[in-house]
Amino acid sequence: MLEVRNLCKNFGGLAVAKNISLSLKKGERRVVLGPNGAGKTTLFNLLAGTLTPTSGSIILGGRNITRAPVEKRARLGLARSYQKNNLFEGLTVRENLGLAATTASGRTASLRCCAHDGAEMQDIIAEVAEQVGLSDSLDKPVSSCPYGNRRQLEVGLALAARPKLLLMDEPTSGVGPNMIDAFDKLIHALPRDLTMLIIEHDFDLGFNVADSITVLNYGEVVFEGSPEATRQSREVKEIYLGDWNHA
Ligand SMILES: Nc1ncnc2c1ncn2[C@@H]1O[C@H](COP(=O)(O)OP(=O)(O)OP(=O)(O)O)[C@@H](O)[C@H]1O
Ligand SMILES: [Mg+2]
Repeated sequence: MLEVRNLCKNFGGLAVAKNISLSLKKGERRVVLGPNGAGKTTLFNLLAGTLTPTSGSIILGGRNITRAPVEKRARLGLARSYQKNNLFEGLTVRENLGLAATTASGRTASLRCCAHDGAEMQDIIAEVAEQVGLSDSLDKPVSSCPYGNRRQLEVGLALAARPKLLLMDEPTSGVGPNMIDAFDKLIHALPRDLTMLIIEHDFDLGFNVADSITVLNYGEVVFEGSPEATRQSREVKEIYLGDWNHA
């Protein structure tokens, strides 16, 4: 599904991605761990096409997309949610999902789309709202939604594109323990054939939802293995030091 080979990115003299290689099978749920500044978001920017690698290659579904524009990658089924919310605050949850689905389907996005679109659009909105636990909040303006619901909607915008590969950058960033549980359920309930790369700082959640884990440090893959092997890795423990106690 996704093959990343020897991916490098330099900003001036600073190497923020160093020979990153990883391979994801269809339906695999890969969690990316790593301390602040390890290069996790940079990796997503390289995969999604908002950054161009200095060297290396990215193959998605057998196609070399290393230098393909963002839109082409999206058309091939890649979608992402962001570490910081990327929502239209003045619109409702329904309108946000409608816009995301419309944009993804390649039609011109219009703020009127939701009121006038056909049954198919309403089906996508209803399905995604259900997936992210927002069925009861569809007609609320985003500005009146609690922060945790906004994080759910952030993932919903990516899901509205009906992706094959979903990149989630810290979906639980800034949320409390109840919402961590909600995200655990949300991720578990997503279709099993959806391939996912999830950056996560909450170890418990990461270990719970992952089929496999990649650990980045200083732009390099320093460990890859099962959740159990990651938990037991001395190298990974050393990277996180005291933080490991809550894992
Ligand atoms: N546009 C840029 N120009 C220069 N340096 C950058 C740029 N973007 C990121 N960096 C640097 O690249 C490194 C990796 O940053 P990145 O945002 O990928 O880390 P991260 O693992 O996502 O961290 P966090 O957990 O805090 O989100 C950092 O040292 C950062 O300062
Ligand atoms: Mg980041």
